[in-house]
Amino acid sequence: MSAVPESEPGSEPEIVRRKGHHIELALDPGSQIAAPGQAFADYRLEHRALPECSLEAVDTRCTLLGKKLSAPVLIGSMTGGLAQGARINRHLAEAAQQLGLGMGLGSQRVIFEVPEAQQTFEVRSFAPDILLLANLGAVQLNLGFSEWHCREVVARVGADGLYLHLNALQEAIQPGGDTDFSALSEQIARCCAALSFPVLVKECGNGIGPHTARLLQQAGVAGIELSGHGGTSWAWIEAQRNPDPRMQRLGQTFAHWGWPTPISLQTCRAALPQMPLIASGGIRNGLDAAKALAMGADAVSLAQPLLKAALDSAAAVVAELEIFLLELRIAMFAAGAPDLASLRQRAVSRI
Ligand SMILES: Cc1cc2nc3c(=O)[nH]c(=O)nc-3n(C[C@H](O)[C@H](O)[C@H](O)COP(=O)(O)O)c2cc1C
Repeated sequence: MSAVPESEPGSEPEIVRRKGHHIELALDPGSQIAAPGQAFADYRLEHRALPECSLEAVDTRCTLLGKKLSAPVLIGSMTGGLAQGARINRHLAEAAQQLGLGMGLGSQRVIFEVPEAQQTFEVRSFAPDILLLANLGAVQLNLGFSEWHCREVVARVGADGLYLHLNALQEAIQPGGDTDFSALSEQIARCCAALSFPVLVKECGNGIGPHTARLLQQAGVAGIELSGHGGTSWAWIEAQRNPDPRMQRLGQTFAHWGWPTPISLQTCRAALPQMPLIASGGIRNGLDAAKALAMGADAVSLAQPLLKAALDSAAAVVAELEIFLLELRIAMFAAGAPDLASLRQRAVSRI
């Protein structure tokens, strides 16, 4: 991957330049819609003064989409396409491999416009065993993409499945965004029926409610990542990128649009008791993760909190995630939940 050239600033294709802006803006604290730890701050996990288990024995292992994980934690889809993205993906993948976690790649659409971008997503050699999910924007299925493109992005990186992402609000605010989401659930259904690997759908920070969750179930998706409101705000990021000050207002107007992650999770779980659900959007520590798992998530995913560390090294990402995993274990211990099945029995109450 080191062969990806660092291009002269300003000389990259627009799609690559945009990814650079996204990284820069996502590192700005303004992109975070709530203070760290606020998304789940209104909820409290049952404390058991007599946990009746030992911290050392707390077992977070699970199986997701047929792959074993040391804990139900995925590194969220972020980037690729530019040299900086290649470094980030490599560091994230190495950390996932070391810790036995899953990982989503950022949108791979760029490889069909800029073929050299392909290598920035090739992380399998650094993470031979992890649950790895490829990524494409679902709206592209209304713009000429087909099952062939889905197969390509999965095969070219040796992924275990595919995320199709939904980002209607982001596309509406992004200059020249792709906003034809007409009958998209039918296109998603066609892909689910035709493809032999699991197809999951994710949002990008505005969450999924029960109506959409039911449409996705009918479409045949293998799982849903909620990516609710409470973490990274794409309305804010895209408004910052827009040179027109009138359009920048959109970022403020829509800053609080969407399903807060805990509400998205609780309503989708009630609507779809069996669907694999990944909670994301504002998951900032292992206690948020424990609350989400107790509310019915099968796994959690976090993106932005790992970005700064991923620019540095795999060791920095591992350090971030180790504390996250310790927080999860301590929360399970203090809730008297020696394993994930017990955690799902614990009460989470609204303060
Ligand atoms: C820098 C950055 C780039 C992202 N790029 C993508 C992407 O290409 N595809 C995608 O599905 N989600 C993308 N996301 C969204 C995340 O996967 C996630 O859904 C969202 O950021 C909410 O999680 P968080 O609050 O933990 O950041 C990106 C997030 C960040 C921070």
